[in-house]
Amino acid sequence: MKNSILSLLLIIVLTSPILAQQELPKSEKPAMIATCFACHNPKAPSHDEILAPPFAAVKFRYQMMYKTKEEFAQAVYDYVTNPTEEKALMFGAVRRFGVMPALPLPEEQIKSIAYYIYDNDVEAPEWFAEHFEEQHGKGGNRGFNH
Ligand code: HEC
Repeated sequence: MKNSILSLLLIIVLTSPILAQQELPKSEKPAMIATCFACHNPKAPSHDEILAPPFAAVKFRYQMMYKTKEEFAQAVYDYVTNPTEEKALMFGAVRRFGVMPALPLPEEQIKSIAYYIYDNDVEAPEWFAEHFEEQHGKGGNRGFNH
């Protein structure tokens, strides 16, 4: 009896990472904060203090180019693991910050971050709408949660 309870517990322990993984898309916000927000921080107080474009801008640019969620995630993965000037879509950002450093992260992790960005209204910083209008004209910031 005791043994079977133990083996049941063991099964639960062993399968919980699998169960947890199915929840992955929801839990990617912390991963995104840890791995990407060091540079893509939407809380940067001003446009002069950022190290990389906010994900709201990245999302906008990538969705212009990649229509499906899978294409979007694949493109983000390709870029993050091997960014080059030729591949970059955000020319202004490359000019300003230089090409992003490559992050050798697992495909699964980068893609679930990308899915999160694709599926959610990613936070746009306060100053962002203004900057966006300067760059792209008024009314262009539809789609941001501002
Ligand atoms: C060390 C700083 C840094 C980190 C960490 C970082 N990025 Fe970047 N990222 C940048 C910079 C700088 C740019 C703008 C220049 C460029 O486009 O290469 C950028 C641009 C991008 C772009 C747009 C590329 C383009 O021009 O087409 C994507 C997509 C992106 N980052 C995704 C991510 C993701 C996802 C993560 C987390 C897994 C991440 N980045 C982490 C610095 C960083």
